[in-house]
Amino acid sequence: LRDGVDPFAPPKPSDFATSIQPFAGGPAGLLAELTHRCPLQCPYCSNPLELEKSNVELTAAQWGETFRQAAAIGALQLHLSGGEPTARRDLEEILAAAVEAGLYTNLVTSAVLLTRERLERLAGIGLDHVQVSIQDIVPESADRISAYDGGVPKKRDVARWTRELGMGLTINAPMHRQNIAHLPQIIDFAVEVDAQRIEIAHIQYYAWAQVNRAALIPTREIFMETVGIVEDAKKRLQGVLNFDFVIHDHYATRPKQCTGGWGRSIMAVTPSGKALPCHAAQTLPGLTFDDVRERALGDIWRNGAAFNAYRGTDWMKEPCRSCERREIDYGGCRCQAFAVTGDAAATDPACHLSPDHARFAAWAETESIAAPPPFVYRRYGGAPQGA
Ligand code: SF4
Ligand code: FES
Repeated sequence: LRDGVDPFAPPKPSDFATSIQPFAGGPAGLLAELTHRCPLQCPYCSNPLELEKSNVELTAAQWGETFRQAAAIGALQLHLSGGEPTARRDLEEILAAAVEAGLYTNLVTSAVLLTRERLERLAGIGLDHVQVSIQDIVPESADRISAYDGGVPKKRDVARWTRELGMGLTINAPMHRQNIAHLPQIIDFAVEVDAQRIEIAHIQYYAWAQVNRAALIPTREIFMETVGIVEDAKKRLQGVLNFDFVIHDHYATRPKQCTGGWGRSIMAVTPSGKALPCHAAQTLPGLTFDDVRERALGDIWRNGAAFNAYRGTDWMKEPCRSCERREIDYGGCRCQAFAVTGDAAATDPACHLSPDHARFAAWAETESIAAPPPFVYRRYGGAPQGA
């Protein structure tokens, strides 16, 4: 904890009081996508279908300036993400700038490129927390989902080293029909490696996950089983492991407050320096994104066109406009609304009040009982690959 703030706790409405009104307060968190390069090819990757090349990536000095500005406008947490952030050879320099800026630092990693020596160096610089993503815990399945061989033992090592080196540890496990049967073992793994927190997140269907939706979507019955497994584990592991469970939108009745509400608590920056109100915002049409090298971060946050496009409630249509929950969930996810309805200002179809909700749920019911098609893997520097 820094200044008594747990950066990984789910947001409370009071957290937004300073950042929503006015937006003079900055984002609470910055998601820095240091690179889109990644040795894995997860078929649900949230990176855009068109990945940015390494020759357009911000330099360590440019990231450092971005972090200083973020801290100056109130950001507390920094998520060093990607792609795979450890693919940056200058990660140490980037991290040092973040520590110098006074940010709580979280490395979001697949772990497969990390050695103990490098992790020790990062810990020595001041890294606070590591989030290790796992594709599955059964090696053959994990290898197939990530299109990368031998990841599971590496993740186990990195998770253990993280705790031995005194850093916080979260295990992040995206859930879908091809790993969901192993959820109990995934929870056991988190306990075994002494994680403090596990994030069990049913997939959000935009970007690569939308391409692979039919291969990923579970049946309603299986989704409901995961709810029971997580509820039981929460009771059994109280005081041992904290759970963050993201439910499956197709089987929900109400949407999530995506990214804490558009332009209210998070800013994402792409490898080339585009500032986004949510990491998938580039899937939406008609938005232009400011470059952090060309415009001050505070100005982008307060006045940037993309940040104001769906901020607050003025942009809403019915049924959100007159709904009593409009300042609780802010109409749900803009990216999902656009992906399903073609209208980024529509009500998130996860909401039972959305006119598209029945169609949205029916897709899931139909696709989830058919045989899964082969994955279309994300591929850096080339066309998508099937397998
Ligand atoms: Fe939220 Fe809109 Fe649904 Fe109301 S109608 S619950 S504001 S998504
Ligand atoms: Fe973009 Fe939800 S992922 S608003």
